[in-house]
Amino acid sequence: MRTPFLAGNWKMHKTVSEATALAREIVAGATGSGNRIMVAPPFTALAAVGAIVKGSPVRLGAQNMAGELSGAHTGETSVLMLKDLGVEYVILGHSERRHVYGESDELVNRKVKLALERGMQTILCVGETLEEREADSVESVVAAQLAGGLDGVEEASLGQVTIAYEPVWAIGTGKTATPDDANAVHRFIRDWFAKHYSAKAADAMCIQYGGSVKPDNVRDLMAMEHIDGALVGGASLDADSFLAIATYNKE
Ligand code: PGA
Repeated sequence: MRTPFLAGNWKMHKTVSEATALAREIVAGATGSGNRIMVAPPFTALAAVGAIVKGSPVRLGAQNMAGELSGAHTGETSVLMLKDLGVEYVILGHSERRHVYGESDELVNRKVKLALERGMQTILCVGETLEEREADSVESVVAAQLAGGLDGVEEASLGQVTIAYEPVWAIGTGKTATPDDANAVHRFIRDWFAKHYSAKAADAMCIQYGGSVKPDNVRDLMAMEHIDGALVGGASLDADSFLAIATYNKE
């Protein structure tokens, strides 16, 4: 049984004081749910939010990290610095990193391997653009991103890997893939793991859906066999809406 994993990606939102207020409300409401819950504030708020979520069921995530450990990399943040702040998870290969900041599969792969080596949990994002969907190449795009992002990653490290399937056309647009459409891609991803690793690894793999997840669609998505969680952008910026998602299955 895969534990539901609900994660909030705050992107470039929230000052330190706004982030701490939001984190406090989330911590207060997240207790008692059996789900895995994570928030990824901007870098500037990681330390402050980390202090608030410490000892709570809410895990701390970062939105990105450098592909190198240290050195002359102006503007970059090392996995060592993230670990130093108590960060346990890092989101890698988000479509905004890929499409706005030009990150290649090769760079994403370097980051994934470095994060895994250093004991970090990673959320590897994959997903097609609208043009790719219309060209019927969803599976080839997702397979290439998985193969590229996980090149050289051994099965023993997969326990540290979550996949987030985020169709680019559904991010921040209010358009959600239907639960059936999303589930079909999630099944394809699980089968990809069975083929490239093992049936056991495929079965254990946590696969999140991302793209306009909201309190009113999370249940239908989570009801699907292969959807194990959600990576939430816009709806994670408000405590009530994020908690409604993060504890969607609470009685
Ligand atoms: P959204 O973002 O929920 O605002 O669509 C999702 C994401 O980018 O992870």
